[in-house]
Amino acid sequence: MAFGRKVTFMADESDDEEQARLRVIESLDTGVAHVARVYNFWLGGKDNFAADRAAGEQAMQAFPAIALSARSNRAFLARAVHFLANEVGIRQFLDVGTGIPSANNTHEVAQAAAPDSKVLYVDKDPIVLAHARALLASNPEGATAYVEADLRDPDRIIEAAAAELDLGQPVALMLIAILHHIGDDEDPQRIIARLTDALPPGSYLTISHAASDINAEAMAKMAASLNQTMAEKVTFRDRPAVSRFFDGLDLVEPGLVQASKWRPASEEEANRPAALWAGVARKN
Ligand SMILES: C[S@@+](CC[C@H](N)C(=O)[O-])C[C@H]1O[C@@H](n2cnc3c(N)ncnc32)[C@H](O)[C@@H]1O
Repeated sequence: MAFGRKVTFMADESDDEEQARLRVIESLDTGVAHVARVYNFWLGGKDNFAADRAAGEQAMQAFPAIALSARSNRAFLARAVHFLANEVGIRQFLDVGTGIPSANNTHEVAQAAAPDSKVLYVDKDPIVLAHARALLASNPEGATAYVEADLRDPDRIIEAAAAELDLGQPVALMLIAILHHIGDDEDPQRIIARLTDALPPGSYLTISHAASDINAEAMAKMAASLNQTMAEKVTFRDRPAVSRFFDGLDLVEPGLVQASKWRPASEEEANRPAALWAGVARKN
């Protein structure tokens, strides 16, 4: 697999594109669980293999609410994008750690609020690349693009963002359920600073992050399980540690909270299980 491929599938499916998609799927490492596919399994999707399901089920034994928690995370993503597009007026999104397309993908929520929204998707897993067509079905007034890159190489992401977006205008950087795959030794703080430094004032950072201090015992067991079974390792963090990722930025109300409690649409939504911290902050 070439690193850093840029994909520009057209909306119409051609044989060449379908062949390319099949080649990507054939090249997948299906013997070991990968987080994009395990997460797809928890969300009830079909784009996963036996190793992913086994890892997902073992994790569910440790933390039975993980599937509901994953749904709460998707709902937070949609509410945050809606807030940014609708209430703040953001028109450019950089979504790193996109995942396999699901309901309410970033461009769908953003373009429902503002059809001219542009979204650059970034993920390192080739299975996401194989589904890039769904991510690239942009509203004609807006634009979407997909780049295969690793969050641990922020310079590469900035380079792609400079090519696809206008970095003179505010950008919403979305790091949704990805930073817990960056270990402390990989310096997530530096990665975030490098990315946010490249964005102009008026830009936003949105984070959701698996919590070590919500359902603490079950989450510790789940982390141990996933670190045995999954290719991408996990480091769940507590609220103070996730809070430091927003250093130098201004958190919008209600601050860093349990994902289901970030501007919920109803009390019922606020009370759903969610073992993640979530927040949205502005760069001034
Ligand atoms: C749990 S899924 C979250 C998907 C989506 N953001 C959401 O919250 O619904 C994590 C995604 O991050 C991707 N990912 C993990 N580590 C990454 C890295 N270092 N660079 C880029 N993508 C990464 C995985 O491939 C996967 O698609």
